[in-house]
This record gives sequence, structure tokens and C-alpha cells, in this order.
Amino acid sequence: MLDGKKVLFSGMQATGNLTLGNYLGALKNWVTLSDEYECFYSVVDMHSITIRQDPAELRRRARNLLTLYIAAGLDPEKNCIYYQSHASGHAELAWILNCFTYMGELNRMTQFKDKAAKHADNINAGLFTYPVLMAADILLYQADVVPVGIDQMQHLELTRNIAERFNNIYGDVFTIPEVYLGKVGAKIMSLQDPSKKMSKSDENPNGSIYLMDDPDTIMRKCKRAVTDSEANFCYRDEQPGLKNLIDIYSACTGKTPDDTVKEFQGRGYGEFKVAVGEAVVSVLRPLQEEYARLSKDKAYIDSIIKANAEKANYVSSKTLRKVQRKVGFPDRIR
Ligand code: TYM
Repeated sequence: MLDGKKVLFSGMQATGNLTLGNYLGALKNWVTLSDEYECFYSVVDMHSITIRQDPAELRRRARNLLTLYIAAGLDPEKNCIYYQSHASGHAELAWILNCFTYMGELNRMTQFKDKAAKHADNINAGLFTYPVLMAADILLYQADVVPVGIDQMQHLELTRNIAERFNNIYGDVFTIPEVYLGKVGAKIMSLQDPSKKMSKSDENPNGSIYLMDDPDTIMRKCKRAVTDSEANFCYRDEQPGLKNLIDIYSACTGKTPDDTVKEFQGRGYGEFKVAVGEAVVSVLRPLQEEYARLSKDKAYIDSIIKANAEKANYVSSKTLRKVQRKVGFPDRIR
């Protein structure tokens, strides 16, 4: 609890171009939940360097992402929107939690296995302990809820285990966080291969809709989306391409998959794909316009960065000091 409200924490990496999956699986839900909770939305730049980055490019992308959070409708006066690297408590708590996490647990993380396979020339220790930094992000703010897509579930489960282990030894130090998954959109798949999730790092750009894609590109990608030859408008796992498009359409319009099936029953896939394209464009257009406007306001964005870094440090240092005391670090002399 913070100021009488429950706490929400979530974050995104400033790596690659954000996709519709990031928006529907996370950002959109962040906006919906933001009134109800005391929220911390981090641009997790420290996570990004587990993969080699060009420094100037990372800085640029981090700022763009922070701007995008605001453009999506998160009020930076009410929500703490900040860079992870500006609050040193993340790294400090991560170190302590490293000492409460087992190698075996980290070895089981599927994202580590995937990323290690993809970046075989740079399997660094940071990539391995990445989920511990993520646990530190969440536990540092005593988060009650963490809205993410399905791909982060395993990391959330590990976070809960680490928190419970710590609490069992030292008493109730950490709030045990709950995961929040949206009803639809928690796993948006590639438009070209619906067995793979839509991803920033997909080599085939037609598989992903990027948040900054223009309307023509969005429409073209939707029309080319892989479906099936069954010509049977159903929401089921056996028709994964269609199911994914139904998810996208439903998440963009606020309808349920059942309503969408009723609406398009007996109509052709071609007509539906156009409707999906239009629904995506109408969700992304206001976001893009607001992003373009905000990007020009350097002084405003700078003021947000400064104020929110202070807030993040202030709130997180309370948990950090408590944890440091618990594990036996000497008190500071004032
Ligand atoms: P990242 O940057 O890969 O993704 C950001 C968010 O987008 C969601 N997401 C998706 N949702 C639905 N369909 C998809 N195809 C899709 N692709 C991505 C992700 O689930 C995520 O919610 N490790 C995290 C960032 C992080 C974090 C945290 C999140 C660091 N610390 C603490 C929550 C709490 C990551 O790399 O997300």
C-alpha cells in the first residue's frame, strides 16, 4: 500500500521497435489500471544491456519509450514513469536477491534458454540473472500487481518464490505480487507464423505490427496475415492464425472473441482482415499523434524524467534500507 492505494509495477525494454503485442499485452492494460493503483512504470534500460547495445541508440530508444508511455495515456504527474538506471536501488536489491536465488531456478527459465540460443556469442552472467533484476524491480516497490503478457509469467512465478523465501527467513518484508493478464491480448502471435509470439526481434517484419507503422503498412500486414483454408469462422486452437486475428480485433475494439465471431460469421476472411487492419489503425493513430506532439516538447519530458527519478528513489530506498537491515548490513551513521 502506498498513500492508501495498492501498488502496481511494470516495465518494458527499450530494445527494438515496440509491437502491437507489447501494446495489447501490456501498455493498454497499464492505462486501464492506472487510476485504481499507485503505479510505477519503468523503462528497464538495465535489462537491455544483457544484449549488446549501441549506447547512443539505447539512449534514444529509452527516451522514445518513456515518451510513448505518456503518449499511450499514462499521466506522468500521477504515475511514476522513470528509467530503471536512475534508481540505484534496483541494482542494489538485485545483488541481495541473487544470494537468495538458486542456479537451478535460473537454469529453468525458458527466456534465458531462448536468448542464450539466439546470442550464443554473448551468454553473459547478466543474461542469466536477468530474472533476479526483474524480481528486484517488482519487490522494491512492494507491488501488489504486475500487468504483463503471458511470456513473463515464469519470471513472475520466480519473483514470488524469491519473495516468499526471503519472508520465511526475515518476516514480512516483501509484498507477494499477483500477475495481471488481460482477458484478450496476453499473447499476440506473429502474423506470419501463428505458432510464434509477435516479437520485436522477429526477422520477418511482416510478422509484427510496429506501433509506429503507418496505416497502409498496417493494412498490408493484416491482409497478408497467414490464416487457413477451412473457411470456417471459429475461435479455436486448430485455427491459430484466425484465432490471433480475432484476439487482435477483440482487444482493439473492446469486444469479446465470442462477439467478434458472431459479427463475422459467414463473412469472408478477406473482409475480416480489413476490419482488423482498421481496428488496429484506429487504436494506433491517436497514440502516434500524441507521441509526435510530445517528442517535440523536450523541456516537458526532461522535467518528468527528473521528478519521477526522485520519486522512484524516494519510494524504493525505503524497501532497500529495510532489506539491508534484515540481512545484517551495518546501519548508516547520519
Ligand atoms: P518486454 O520488453 O519483452 O515486453 C514488454 C511487455 O510486453 C509484453 N509482450 C507481449 N504481450 C502479448 N503478446 C506479445 N506478443 C507480447 N510481447 C511482449 C510482455 O509480456 C511485457 O509485459 N522482462 C520484461 C520487462 C521487465 C518487467 C519488469 C516487466 C523488466 N522488469 C518488472 C514487469 C515487471 C521484458 O523484457 O518485457
